[in-house]
Amino acid sequence: MNQLNKEEVRVFYPDQQTVSQAAIQGMQAYDALCAEAEADYEGFWAKLARELLSWHKPFKTVLDESDAPFYQWFPDGELNVSYNCLDRHLEKRGNKTAILFEADDGSSTAVSYRDLYQSVCKFANGLKSLGLKTGDRVVIYMPMGVEVIVAMQACARLGLIHSVVFGGFSSKSLVERIEDAQPRIIITSDGQFRGGKQMPIKSAVDEALQEEQSRCVEKVIVFKRTGEAISWDDSRDIRWDDLVANQPDSCEPAWVSAEHPLFLLYTSGSTGKPKGVQHASAGYLLHALNTMRWTFDIKDSDVFWCTADVGWITGHSYVAYGPLAAGATQVVFEGIPTYPDASRFWKVIEKHKVSIFYTAPTAIRTLIKLGGDLPAQHDLSSLRLLGSVGEPINPEAWKWFYHEVGGGRCPIMDTFWQTETGGHVITPLPGVTPLVPGSCTLPFPGLDVAVVDESGNEVERGIGGFLVIRKPWPSMIRNIWNDPERYKQSYFPEDLGGKLYLAGDGAIRDPETGYFTIMGRIDDVLNVSGHRMGTMEIESALVANPLVAEAAVVGKPHDIKGESIVAYVVLKGERPTGDAAKNLVESLRAWVGKEIGPIAKPDEIRFGDNLPKTRSGKIMRRLLRALARGDDITADISTLENPAILQQLKS
Ligand code: PRX
Repeated sequence: MNQLNKEEVRVFYPDQQTVSQAAIQGMQAYDALCAEAEADYEGFWAKLARELLSWHKPFKTVLDESDAPFYQWFPDGELNVSYNCLDRHLEKRGNKTAILFEADDGSSTAVSYRDLYQSVCKFANGLKSLGLKTGDRVVIYMPMGVEVIVAMQACARLGLIHSVVFGGFSSKSLVERIEDAQPRIIITSDGQFRGGKQMPIKSAVDEALQEEQSRCVEKVIVFKRTGEAISWDDSRDIRWDDLVANQPDSCEPAWVSAEHPLFLLYTSGSTGKPKGVQHASAGYLLHALNTMRWTFDIKDSDVFWCTADVGWITGHSYVAYGPLAAGATQVVFEGIPTYPDASRFWKVIEKHKVSIFYTAPTAIRTLIKLGGDLPAQHDLSSLRLLGSVGEPINPEAWKWFYHEVGGGRCPIMDTFWQTETGGHVITPLPGVTPLVPGSCTLPFPGLDVAVVDESGNEVERGIGGFLVIRKPWPSMIRNIWNDPERYKQSYFPEDLGGKLYLAGDGAIRDPETGYFTIMGRIDDVLNVSGHRMGTMEIESALVANPLVAEAAVVGKPHDIKGESIVAYVVLKGERPTGDAAKNLVESLRAWVGKEIGPIAKPDEIRFGDNLPKTRSGKIMRRLLRALARGDDITADISTLENPAILQQLKS
């Protein structure tokens, strides 16, 4: 929950100087854009798509709703995403720096648009030489760096559908995604540097490829990052350098339909396995680019830095695609915020003269705790705009970010959006929106966002409800890979009339301003350090352990991480106590780390003889949440099968 105290609701006006050149000026201009979208919805998006994207074949149809909710945008148009990110900048910006790569060890490299174009073309030619063709899937499992962007852009150039898997996911999670996406190729690196340590990564690919479900994978391309000794399969593994050697540095892009899938990105839902969110080429790129303009006010002179890993949607839209489509200079960071110490972000901002800085509340809260006074020791005067993403930002963290990092000059764009939405949905715009700490303020122009009740009717301002998007928009999810039924049920549920996109978050609007505040997920999805995780995935991982009979996982508010993971476990054998319990907790945590990845390890595990259930056998999660928070149980528990269990599960 992210309810603001009345006294917190103080409106901050960004210094007009920092945003005086902003793309949209003033609330009137914002209202005019919204009115334009309202009056001619298709015309509004069509105009932007024509202005902002370079088309190989112009589109005539704007929106095809004939197979709703499987919407198609600009379906008879053709383009190439990589062409839009690279080729079209060569003439004016060939020598401009596209990427300032900041390595874990503090060294940095500048890559120009021409360099990047040539690297992408060479690598694309290498992929072509392996016989890959438009529509084939490619899994990318790499650390942050220039090459991961080259790999994504090269896929886009050839119309290959990439699926980036975050390097922190385990080999088991990798197998799950391979089984679903059926890639022919995996691109990885020998190892990775993080926080001064050298860590393996290819070994997880090797392990994954031993599984039956991974038989679709023909080749593994390995970029040399650390130079460490790794196991090698000559019949399958190819060195990145060998693949690109002697390849020409230009490559004709594959002109694909606007609706051609650009990528799959797996994310968690409340039930089942992670779902492969499928995005289309043109609509996705349009919003990634337009949000760079309107939300981030991007200029040729800016140095943009989004700290997200490309393994998440934020790293797709605001590292791999948006900044390049905008022809911007951006910092790409390999390391972590706390290495070599908690001033790393501030050092990088000072060193590269970052002007737009986009990060997550968890990082902000961690850095406040580890060194709230450190920003003041650095010259951060290059900053003019700040951004926050991934989870609610609490007013305290907001104010610290605003004053200590932004020097009271830089407006904070608290951007609410999701893997499925492709880009920003609700966000302030610089030069437009008076800011309120803790509120993501108003919808991005063109997005028809509302708060509704269980039947899909809009609720009055001041009353909480479900956040929905009422009209299809260009960068929306197109499908869940291999599971169109799940797509319909998850996002366009019949209870709400089957036409509204259900975000899965609760929200409330301020009675006066209409500003939105996100109140957290309404389903069994947790947000831990801005990472989205399904409770059921963690439960499945736990019950896969031979000692575990049953498990239930809930979230609990956490000062730094937003939410922490609490697991209630029923063992097949005796309930352990003392040291035996402690050891088992550690081994179960390690088990989940291996099953999913370290980010899914429960922070707390409590053992019980059973779980609180209704007489019909339903686990009462509401009670488990209350127990996790340490709240008194005030709810009626007369329908509980086994009320005595509550006492046992208290700690
Ligand atoms: O609950 C919302 C939260 O993150 C969820 C989406 O997670 P994911 O698909 O991983 O994408 C994260 C990066 C866009 C949302 O359903 N969320 C995201 N941004 C915010 C947020 N909650 C509050 N405020 C935000 N700005």
